Parts: sequence; C-alpha cells; structure tokens
Amino acid sequence: MTSTNDIRRSFLDYFASQGHTTVPSAPLVPHNDPTLMFVNAGMVPFKNVFTGLEKRGYVTATSSQKCVRAGGKHNDLDNVGYTARHHTFFEMLGNFSFGDYFKEQAIHHAWTLITKEWGVSPDRLTVTVYHDDDEAFGHWKKIAGLPDERIIRIATSDNFWSMGDTGPCGPCSEIFYDHGDHIWGGPPGSPEEDGDRFVEIWNLVFMQYDQQPGGERLALPKPSIDTGMGLERIAAVLQGVHDNYDTDTFKALIEESGELTKTAITGDNQASHRVIADHLRSSGFLIADGVLPANEGRGYVLRRIMRRAMRHAHLLGAAEPLMHRLVGGLVAEMGGAYPELIRAQPLIQETLLREETRFRQTLEKGLRLLDEATACMKEGDTLPGDTAFKLYDTFGFPYDLTEDALRAGGLSVDRAGFDAAMAQQKAAARAAWKGSGDKASDEIWFDIAENAGSTEFTGYTSTQGEGQVVALVCDGKSVDRAAAGDNVTIITNQTPFYGESGGQMGDAGTISSPEGLAGLVIDTAKPLGRLHAHQAEIGSGTVAVGDTIHLSVDVERRNRIRANHSATHLLHAALRERLGGHVTQKGSLVAADRLRFDFSQPDALTPEQIAKVEADVNAQIRGNDAVTTRLMTPDDAIEAGAMALFGEKYGDEVRVLSMGQATDKHYSVELCGGTHVSALGDIGLFKIVSESAVSSGIRRIEALTGEAARLWLSDREDKLKAAAAVLKTAPDDVPARIAALVEERRKLERELADAKKALALGGGAKGGPDASGPEQIGNVGFLGQVIEGLDPKELRGLVDENKKKLGSGVSALVAVVDGRASIAVGVTDDLIARHSAVELVRAGVEALGGKGGGGRPDMAQGGGPDGGKAAAAIEAVKAALVK
Ligand code: ALA
Repeated sequence: MTSTNDIRRSFLDYFASQGHTTVPSAPLVPHNDPTLMFVNAGMVPFKNVFTGLEKRGYVTATSSQKCVRAGGKHNDLDNVGYTARHHTFFEMLGNFSFGDYFKEQAIHHAWTLITKEWGVSPDRLTVTVYHDDDEAFGHWKKIAGLPDERIIRIATSDNFWSMGDTGPCGPCSEIFYDHGDHIWGGPPGSPEEDGDRFVEIWNLVFMQYDQQPGGERLALPKPSIDTGMGLERIAAVLQGVHDNYDTDTFKALIEESGELTKTAITGDNQASHRVIADHLRSSGFLIADGVLPANEGRGYVLRRIMRRAMRHAHLLGAAEPLMHRLVGGLVAEMGGAYPELIRAQPLIQETLLREETRFRQTLEKGLRLLDEATACMKEGDTLPGDTAFKLYDTFGFPYDLTEDALRAGGLSVDRAGFDAAMAQQKAAARAAWKGSGDKASDEIWFDIAENAGSTEFTGYTSTQGEGQVVALVCDGKSVDRAAAGDNVTIITNQTPFYGESGGQMGDAGTISSPEGLAGLVIDTAKPLGRLHAHQAEIGSGTVAVGDTIHLSVDVERRNRIRANHSATHLLHAALRERLGGHVTQKGSLVAADRLRFDFSQPDALTPEQIAKVEADVNAQIRGNDAVTTRLMTPDDAIEAGAMALFGEKYGDEVRVLSMGQATDKHYSVELCGGTHVSALGDIGLFKIVSESAVSSGIRRIEALTGEAARLWLSDREDKLKAAAAVLKTAPDDVPARIAALVEERRKLERELADAKKALALGGGAKGGPDASGPEQIGNVGFLGQVIEGLDPKELRGLVDENKKKLGSGVSALVAVVDGRASIAVGVTDDLIARHSAVELVRAGVEALGGKGGGGRPDMAQGGGPDGGKAAAAIEAVKAALVK
C-alpha cells in the first residue's frame, strides 16, 4: 500500500522533476487575505502572484497546502463525521503556473501523473470541462485519448472556480474517479451525480480573471494554472478504498481513539470516531499555526471544532479528557511532513486538555438540559432558539454542537430564535456599559462592534498583515472614505497593531495598499476593550470601508515595548522576592522609551535593595529563558501560581505569561494580554533610574531596558568623565578627589570662622567705633562693633566675651552677611536692673529695618534686612542707654 505520506511526496517530486519550485505550506491563517478566515485552497498563498501584485523568484510551483474549511464561506463542519469525504482539515496538492504554461501542459501533467506515475487505469477516469471550453475539450481528447462521452461539458458554476467573492478565477476542468458500480451514483452532469460512485479527485483551474467587488471581471496579466487535488481523496483511490476515513492516516487515528475509549470503531460509534479524528487534525494544525480557543473570530471556530469533538468523546463514554491523548498519534502520522506539529506538540496537548477539562464541567449539565427540553419532541421538531442560546451562554455549547447533538433524533434548532436571544443579550450589555463616560463616542464604537464584531488581534505572532477596513471614524463620526491629509481612525477586521491596554501603549506604524494608500498610524487605542482603533494620518491615496489594507507595525518600537513589558514582569517578581509578598502592582506604564511600575510598599527602598532588585532582573535576562504563553481560565491561572491583579476584570480566558527560572518554578507567572519578548535575553539590559513616592504606601520605580538603558549609562559615564576633567583626575579617582575637596572645604570654613572671630575680638572692625577699648556711655562701659561676614551664630559667644572683658557694662555686636544684619546685645548682671538687653536690642533692630528681637535681660538677639545700617544700629543701642 502506498501511504498518504508517500503520495504527498511523489506528487511534489513529480512536479519538482518538471521544473516546479516546491513551496512549503503557508500557515492556515492567511497572511495576504483578511477576507478569508482560513486558507481554504492551495492557491490562496499565491493569490497576489496570480494578479501580478507580487513577484516571486519562480513561475511554476507545487505545494501541499494545509486547508481548513470551517467557519467563513466554505464551511464543512456540519457534515464531518457523517460522510465519506467531508473534512474540516485537509491537504490540497497543487501545481501552479504564473503565466508560464496553460491548459495543454496542465492537462498533460495531470494525466501523466495519475495514469503513468501512479498507474491509475484510464478506464476509471472521467473529466469535465466548462461548457464552452472547446480548447480544454480538445486537449483532453488528444492527450488522454478519452472518448467524447467521458469529456463532459458542464455549464454550471461547478466548472467555474473562484476563490471567494473576489480574486482570481476561471473555468475549470475536473477529473473524476469511478469507484465502481457496487456504489450508487452516476457521472457528473447525470441525474445520479450526487451519488458517491464518481468522486472528483483533481480540479484544474484555468485562471484568467480577477473578480472585482462590484462584479466586474478583469483579465489577469497572463493566463495561469491553479490545480487542487485533495490528498485524502487520492489516497483513498491509491489505497483501494472508497472512504477517506479508511485511508492509513485516518485509520491510525481512529484506531487509537477506539483503543483509548475502549469502544468499537464501527456501527453507532463510527461518526463519533470520525469527528474526533478529523477535528483532532484541524485543532492540532490550527493551534500549531497560532490560533488559540477564544469566544470570537478564528479562536471561536477552533473552540467550536474542539467542543464538537469533545462532545463525541463524551458520547463514546470517555471518562477522562481524550483529545490531548491522541496528539502523539497525530504527530507520528503527520509531523514528518509538517514539523510545526512537532514543535507545537506540548502546546496542542495542553490547549486540548484545558479546553476539555473546562468543557466537561458544564457539558453534562448542558446535555441534561437538552434532554429535558427534547424529551417530548419527535422527529422533525425544532428546539426553541432561547434554549439553544442558554446552552451557548451558560453551558458553553457552540450553536453547531447543539445542532449536531440533535441530529441523531432528527431534530433541528430555531436559528432565528437563537439569533434574537443573542441580539437581546448584546443590547443588554450595551445598556449596562459604563464606559468612558463619553456617551457619544461610546455609541459609535458600539455600532461598529455590533456591525463588524471585535477586531481580531494577530499581533502576538506577527507584526504585519492585511486587514479589511470595517469602519472609518473622522471627528467622532462614521465616514465611508478618507483621503490624503485626513486624520482618521481606522477599524479593520484584524490587525497586528496592539491597542493601548493594561498599561501597554498602543502600536504605531504604517498602512498602505497596492492602490496607492500610504499613511502613518500614530497610535492605536482599544475602545470597548475589543476594537483596535488605528489613529492614522493619510499621506497619499484614499482608504474606504471594504478596502483591504496592509498594516505594518513599527517593529523597532514594538520590540522596545516588548522588552519593557517583560522587564516589568521580572521587576514585579524581583520586588516581591526582595521586599516580600505585600508588594503588588498598583499601576504600570509600558512605553517604548521606559517603564514605570507603581507598587504597594510602605518605605523607600534602600540603595542596597534597589541594587539587588536590579541585579536579580539582570540575572534573569542573562538566563535567556524562553517566555511562554498559555491560555487558561482565570481560576486555573491563579491555581498555577499566576499573579492576578486585584480588582482587574478578567474574561473567560486569560493569557498566562511565564518567564525566568527560580528553584523548581518560573521566576514570574502573570496574567497578561500584552506583547512580550520571546526569550528574556532580548531585553538586553535593565536599569532602574529612579525610585520615589507616589502617595502614602505606594512607591514608584522607573526603569529602562536595552539600548535606552545603555544610553542612560553612557550619558552617566560622559558626565563622570567631564567631572574628572574638571577635577583633573581619572574617573576612578573622582569620589576620593571629591571627598578630599569636601574635607578641605570644611577645614577652610573652620579656619575662616576662627579668623573672623579673632578679627572681631582683636579690633579692626569696619564701620563701627574703635573697639580697641570700651567707651563710656553715660556711666556705663560699652563695647560695640560691626563685623562683616561673621556667622551670626558666633555673636552670642563674642558678646559674652566682651561682657567678661568689661566686668560691668554693655556690649552690642552686629554681624553682616549678604547684606543682612544680626545684632546681639549683652548686659552684665549688675546692670540688668537698669538696662534690659531686650530693650536695647530692639532699638538696634529697628535701626536695621527689622522688627522685634528677644532674649533675656542679660542677652538678647535680633536682626534686620538693612545691613548698611549696621553702624547706626550700634548708635541706636548707645542712644537707648542714655535715655
Ligand atoms: N483552487 C482550486 C480548488 O480549490 C484548485 O478546487
């Protein structure tokens, strides 16, 4: 038997031998088409090559492309499990010509590969062509020698292939395999064509047009070829089975599902095992390509697929979560061709396990409700929409799961009723929204979110991509288009731009389109917490609702934000470790140029504590551990040791960021929706630049990382060098040199004070009377003097010394410093009955332009602003003595 893996390889090898470049499968999330939920055909990654927008280094290519048809336009989810050929995930083998060969060569290759390389009997093959495509008809006749009745002309859209409502398209020619007359069915175009006997195995599309949104079809630059062959179908043919689920890959997965659930894989269980095998493949591949379960967008399609499989596991009686135990088998079957599965294996297992554990908590209750609601129903009846909504809202049953559960009993669901219940809930949420307080602006965001849904954020895994414009807002109003010179807020269905939230600033970057749009995104906000609003300045061209634009994040800026965000987590952990568990985040700003972290802590950090925290963070950075992200319920996250912020509102699902190493655990585990480095070494360097108080009990640290930290340190070094140059010493000697200078200055100050004192005591005063000896004022001995530059603190001591010198008498001294004067007056004890120092000093103070002055009768002090009146103050004291 030829294995599926061999068939894939031989297809690619054949076309490689015919000069085609082998192109690896693109990820399932389309990078070049925001109108598509998932890549659903082999040509999707080449769309812009067909239309001429993009040039590649080859003109012919071959690939085995991962495809998902669930959600969006092509949705096969409902049928999976119940038919032989429907899958949510499949591989499309294809060969492509971008203006190189056309119909003849495409038909030649297809025929050669199937009949010569793979040895399929031509008798089993029938082909179709578009009804008026005589050229293709002629080639088939000539190349394959097929009789006319086995080249069937089809007039319907079955033989005109288009990627979607827009994009490359053209007439096509399909190859059918006849599985034999033991199976009911007829050739294409016949009344029995819906039977399973004739199976389409290969579609050759003769790409000629580019379908425009308005319906117009433009000619492609050159006629091209796009072909698609379902690997699962050709595997069935080459392995001699009729049913895709009987091919080797599926058989292996289904057998394992049977073993693990200890159930038969046939009979009533068949559909469940098929659902499990198929959904395991789509879930595994979607998770490997970065999709994680969520309540909207692609993540919700994944959740629907996963839960549908999980209900079937439950139906089989699986007592424990099942899906994650099948991942090893999937990787064994398909990891060789798709190494991303091997790399993502732990993530796939963990995501499946968490989802199944969580879903099981409500699954039984939901099923019980469903049983009660349907107990009295009979085949053909309809389940009320509000019951389906309750199952969705309370028990986490996606709509299609309810439908699937009712299928066996021949019941259906009232979709309109379900939608009405959903609309009612949304209206209630809108009414309850407290929001920004700005009613008018909230209204507009609500309208946009209701019409277009939330913005899907693709920026955890990429920094650029396409988005379809769903709304434009100018001056608070919705507009249809904006042009060069306009400042406009652009909302797209998906974006790699982070919208400001959780303390992390919004992304900046550029927008463009092949039609000539060029603009700057200055900032990205996140109104309602679910729309990403790009604040853009249009430089040239126009942008209109419905356009597809290219969004490109300023990567360098984003990288600095990432580094600052991851460093904030490390800082938080280091503070808790060094200061204690009382430290919790009270505020945070993660900008491109710095980070700021406020936390509860009663006292200022000592320099040693700051140094230790900084060293701890840098040690983690040097450890260079990978940063891991997991998606969990808030409760699981907290159980896993994540630091949750008190008072924060978390959704059903939280991202849990783990980073760094501590003894037997991660250094930091936090709930966080922000963007982070992939390995801690990317932070480069961490430097705390300030520590201060915000309010009582709350401290603030500001810090820098990477290049900003290096620049800060280098600026410090420059300053140190400049200081060293002034000091005429080496930078290393600056502290010792400054210490010596300070000490020297202290000494000089002391000497200066002593000298002034000596001067005061020794005479030579300026502007005062000769102090060489006491004067007689009335019958009182008096010593008065003005001393420039004397520290006023010295006055009292000097006055005391004068009193001693006088034995009996009065001394008044005035010190003048920087134009201000201080005065002290002393009266020896024998005279205080007649003269009070307080009164005398007041006379002096008045002369100095001041007020008051005080002390005791034997010693009083005061001062005034008018230092020029120092001598007059002495005179005033003398005058007061003789009053
Ligand atoms: N693009 C074509 C298809 O998907 C080949 O069928």
